[in-house]
Amino acid sequence: MIDLGQVFTSEKIAEFMISLFTIQKEGALLDPCFGDGAFIKAAKKFNFNNIEGYEIDSKLFDESKLDLSSANLYNEDFLLSKRQKKYDAIIMNPPYIRQEKIDDLKEYGITKVNLRRNKLFSCLPGNANIYMYFIIKAISLLKKNGELIVIFPSSWIKAKNGERFKEHITSKCTVEKEIHVTGEIFEKDALVEVVVLKLVKGKHEFSCTDEYLEMKNGNLIKRNSGNESIDFGFDTEFIELANIRRGLTTGYNEMFINPSLIGEYSHRNIFNIISTPKSIDGYSTKNAKLDKILIIENDSIDKEIQDYINHYKLLIVENGKPKTLFNKIMKDERWYTLKKIDSKGIIFSYFVRNDMKFVLNETDYLVRDNFYIIYPKIDKLLLFALLNNYYTYLQLELSGKKYGAGLLKIQRYDIENLLFPTINELAETDVITLKELSKRIIEGEQKSLIEEITRIISKYSFVPFEEVIDKYRHEIKHRLE
Ligand SMILES: C[S@@+](CC[C@H](N)C(=O)[O-])C[C@H]1O[C@@H](n2cnc3c(N)ncnc32)[C@H](O)[C@@H]1O
Repeated sequence: MIDLGQVFTSEKIAEFMISLFTIQKEGALLDPCFGDGAFIKAAKKFNFNNIEGYEIDSKLFDESKLDLSSANLYNEDFLLSKRQKKYDAIIMNPPYIRQEKIDDLKEYGITKVNLRRNKLFSCLPGNANIYMYFIIKAISLLKKNGELIVIFPSSWIKAKNGERFKEHITSKCTVEKEIHVTGEIFEKDALVEVVVLKLVKGKHEFSCTDEYLEMKNGNLIKRNSGNESIDFGFDTEFIELANIRRGLTTGYNEMFINPSLIGEYSHRNIFNIISTPKSIDGYSTKNAKLDKILIIENDSIDKEIQDYINHYKLLIVENGKPKTLFNKIMKDERWYTLKKIDSKGIIFSYFVRNDMKFVLNETDYLVRDNFYIIYPKIDKLLLFALLNNYYTYLQLELSGKKYGAGLLKIQRYDIENLLFPTINELAETDVITLKELSKRIIEGEQKSLIEEITRIISKYSFVPFEEVIDKYRHEIKHRLE
C-alpha cells in the first residue's frame, strides 16, 4: 500500500488549532489534505462558512465527503494543482513522507523530479520531507495578511535541513506562534512531539510567542517550558565529574589515515587509531578494529616519508585545498605534523545511529574526531555507570540534533549540559554495585546490565525507572522511524 502519510488529528487539537484564527468567519478557508476532515468539522463548529479542501485518496474522500457537506471538496493532489485561488486562512496537518519515499507517489503524478520542476519548490533542500512542500505551497496561496496554521513533527526544528526551510518561511511570513505539543495528539500514533505554527503572510511587528502544551487524558494542559517535563531532580553538572574534548582531527584523512608507507623508519611514525564507532564491539576498545595514522614527531625524516610529504604538498598546492593545510604550507615548513591526543578515557561517538554507548578506552589507541574523549575526575567505573544509563541517554536523545535517516548529532555542550545525581548522596552499597556493573559491561556482558544501572540511578530521581525507559524507547523509535 502506498504511504500517503495518513495520521489523523484528534478533535480536541483540531478545535484548538481552529481557535487560533483571527480572520472573519466568511473568509476563504482551506485544508489542503483533509483526510477524514477533522479541521473542516472543527471549522464548521466555529461557524466558518467558506471552506474548501483537497484529499488525494479517493476512498477516504468518498468516505469523508458525506460528513463534510457544504464545503467545496476536491479529490485531487494539492501540490501540483494548477488552481491559483488565494485564501484568507489555511489549516493543515500535512502528510509526513521522507524524501526517499516521495517517488512512490508517482501513480498520483507526484515524483521528486515533478515537484522540483516547479520553481516554487526550488528553495527546498533535495532531502526535504513532503510536508515542507505542503507548507511552501500553502504560503504561496495565502492572501496578504492571510493566516496559516499547521501542525507537524517538531524534529525539523533541530534538523540541519530545517534551516533553509525556516529562512524561507520567515522571508514570506511572520511567525506569530510556535506551540510545542506533547502527548496524545493524533488519533492512532500517540506520543509524538509536534509543533503548531501560526504564520501570518507578510512582515509584521509582533514577536513570536512560544508555548508548551501537553495533551493528557483528552485535555490540553499548559506547561512552562520545553524541558520541564524531564526534571529528573539531578543537581550535579558534568564538569564536576569529568573533562571532555574532541578526538584527533587530521584535516586530510587521505594523507594521514592508513598511509601507504612500507619502510621500517616510516612505521615508527605510524600509530593505531580508532576511526568509527562501527569498529568497536561492546563497551571497551580492547578488540576494536584499528586504522593507522601517520604522526611525524621528530625532525629527521627518511626518504620514503619525505617523498610522501612532497607528493601531498604538490597536490595541496595545486588544488588549493584542504584550505587549512594549504595556508599552513604557505606559512610553515612543518605543515605535515600532527599532535597526539591523550585518548585514554571514556569515548563517545559524535554521531549516534542506533543505541547510545559510552565506551572505555584504556588502550594506547588514539581516537579520531568522530569521538569525544571524556577524562574522569572521579572513579572511572562510577563515571562509566553514570554515563551508561537511560537517564543520561534520554537527556542526550532530547538535546541532540536530529539529522534525518535516524542520525543524532551530539554537540560537546549537549554532554557538558548533562546532569547527574549527587555523588556524595549515593549509598555506599549502590556505588559498589554501580562499579561492579560497569566492570561486567566492559568485560562483555551487555545491554540488560544498563537497565540494572538505570534502576539504581532511579532511586535518586523524581522520575521513575519505567517512565524513563518508556520515554527513551519512544524517542528512539521516533528517531529511527
Ligand atoms: C497527516 S494526514 C492529515 C489528515 C487530516 N487533515 C487530519 O489532520 O486529520 C494527511 C492527509 O493528506 C493526504 N494527502 C497526501 N498527499 C496528498 C496530496 N498530494 N494532496 C492532497 N492530499 C494528500 C493523505 O491522504 C492524508 O489523508
